[in-house]
Amino acid sequence: MKKQIDIGFIFDYNMGILVTPIYHNTKRWGGKTMYKLSQLTQDGSIMLNGEKIADTILYVNGDYVRKSEAVISVYDSGFQHGDGVYEGIRAYGRRVYRLDEHVKRLYESCYTLGIEIGKTQDEMKKIVKDLVKKNIEAGFTDIHMRLQVTRGFKAQTGMHPTLNITPSSIVICVDQKPPIFNKEGITLITTWLKRYSPSYMDPKIHCCNQLNQIMAACEAIRQGADEAIMLDQNGYVAETNSTNLQMVKDGALVLPTLDSQLPGITRKTMIQIARALGMEVQERNISVAEYYNADEVFICGTVGEIVPVRMIDGKKIGACTPGPVTARFAEEYRKMTQTLGVSIDDE
Ligand SMILES: Cc1ncc(COP(=O)(O)O)c(C=O)c1O
Repeated sequence: MKKQIDIGFIFDYNMGILVTPIYHNTKRWGGKTMYKLSQLTQDGSIMLNGEKIADTILYVNGDYVRKSEAVISVYDSGFQHGDGVYEGIRAYGRRVYRLDEHVKRLYESCYTLGIEIGKTQDEMKKIVKDLVKKNIEAGFTDIHMRLQVTRGFKAQTGMHPTLNITPSSIVICVDQKPPIFNKEGITLITTWLKRYSPSYMDPKIHCCNQLNQIMAACEAIRQGADEAIMLDQNGYVAETNSTNLQMVKDGALVLPTLDSQLPGITRKTMIQIARALGMEVQERNISVAEYYNADEVFICGTVGEIVPVRMIDGKKIGACTPGPVTARFAEEYRKMTQTLGVSIDDE
């Protein structure tokens, strides 16, 4: 199949130079839709999918600022080294979905890395809820947040944590971002790049340094797919570069063990849904060959929710259409997002 690649360019109008090309493959197996071209226009607006990006309200170290004006020191540990942790959180209407679980995971990652947040979990939850309220009042919808805590600012460049001079930096980016994948299904490739094992960089730490996964995403883009499957050090499937990956086989939900992947909050919900539906749940090592021959495969995560996988490495999965079990999981998940979240109106 002939590959169609749109090539876009971002120009820095202050410098008048080409900064970076963006490659985007819009037509392949009808799957790719994650992002269309993003660009900075001549008047300084940011465009995504042909629309001007929303100037949402962000939280930056105690201040509420518009996205277009939000800045942080170039000496911040996050900018310098990716030395920080993050959580991707969604609000559905006036409810923040699984807020307790996200904040707990954030604090656990910070504890592991020795980053002092300087706020209680309850204080952090209140900041998140207040921020959602402000954005809703400003008219924004489909709120997705990236709550990020870094080790703070440095006295000078250098990785050593003794160079840190401020308490942690806390930034919450807010975007108007509906689920990012095509609900009709996506395509995956398997990358040569392994997901970290706990002996290198434990994937249970939800850290800001995502180069391992970004390189895998680059590989997916190069091959015209949406996402890349990353294997663990023994050659079993770990997860995709940004989501957990499970399959349905002979009526059972089958998931890779948690050894080399993020313990996704959505993944845990999938297990709960399967059990509630009376399905067998198998958590075990799974090879790519098993995924090729699954009845259904789907990815899951906060940012994209539940999405069927049509093809892996050019092979059709099942009927190559969204399967009935995946559709049922997506529907059960949708119902949970409407009822389970923490209300922003509760104190
Ligand atoms: C590598 C990776 N896997 C899986 C997920 C999904 O996790 P969750 O369901 O908690 O959003 C994420 C989300 O950030 C991720 O970065």
